[in-house]
Amino acid sequence: MSKIALFGATGTIGSRILDEALNRGHQVTAVVRDPAKLAATRPGLAVMTGDVLDPASVADAAQGQDVVLSAVGGGDGPGHVATIRPAAESLVAGLRALGDRAPRLITVGGAGSLRTADGRQVWDAEGLPEALLQIMHAHGDALDFYRTVSDVRWTNCSPAATIAPGERTGTYRNAIDDLIVDADGQSRISAEDYAVALLDEIEKPQHVGERFTVGY
Ligand SMILES: NC(=O)c1ccc[n+]([C@@H]2O[C@H](COP(=O)([O-])OP(=O)(O)OC[C@H]3O[C@@H](n4cnc5c(N)ncnc54)[C@H](OP(=O)(O)O)[C@@H]3O)[C@@H](O)[C@H]2O)c1
Repeated sequence: MSKIALFGATGTIGSRILDEALNRGHQVTAVVRDPAKLAATRPGLAVMTGDVLDPASVADAAQGQDVVLSAVGGGDGPGHVATIRPAAESLVAGLRALGDRAPRLITVGGAGSLRTADGRQVWDAEGLPEALLQIMHAHGDALDFYRTVSDVRWTNCSPAATIAPGERTGTYRNAIDDLIVDADGQSRISAEDYAVALLDEIEKPQHVGERFTVGY
């Protein structure tokens, strides 16, 4: 059983991570900006107020935990892009403040920087909308930042190109920097199976200090 502080627990991906973690018997502290959005009514769940963009709030939430997990961002507005790299910096700063007592950090990343079969990256594809490109590059900037960090045990997990609520099959494939594509040429993962992969990584760490990706 691990003690997990989860930022983004009210979100599409974060809520699936929350379900998977609680179903496996982990203790989760959901760190939310508005506690009215999430009630601590399930066994193993605690809720505290906090902001991922505030390093002091991160340090506070991280104290005594085994893992800090972040699934923040989201939506179509400018707040999405504006959150991603600053959240990475704040999470690392907050954990650094705890020194040797800092838990592991696992963050939800983006697919844009993954390599494609033609040797380019997902974000090099023609015709991508500007708003999506900005989100992709914000995740790329955050990953570049994590790759400079050696004093916090970080892991960044890029979903497949398409991630959406769906079925929990319990199966997935993973890779390091290459986009995972299925037999039909699609790069996809359900949010439920993405959560399975993240919890597997918590229970059996294999990607400390690197990015990995999950798809079918
Ligand atoms: N294929 C891909 O690469 C791909 C696809 C989809 C998503 N993603 C990434 O996955 C992440 C999550 O996406 P999603 O669709 O699950 O988003 P979402 O449903 O919009 O949820 C976002 C979550 O972040 C939280 N949040 C935002 N700012 C925060 C802050 N300052 N402090 C604490 N919590 C904060 C929100 O909390 P509130 O309830 O307080 O608003 C919410 O729980 C994003 O970074 C997104 O870019 C990647």
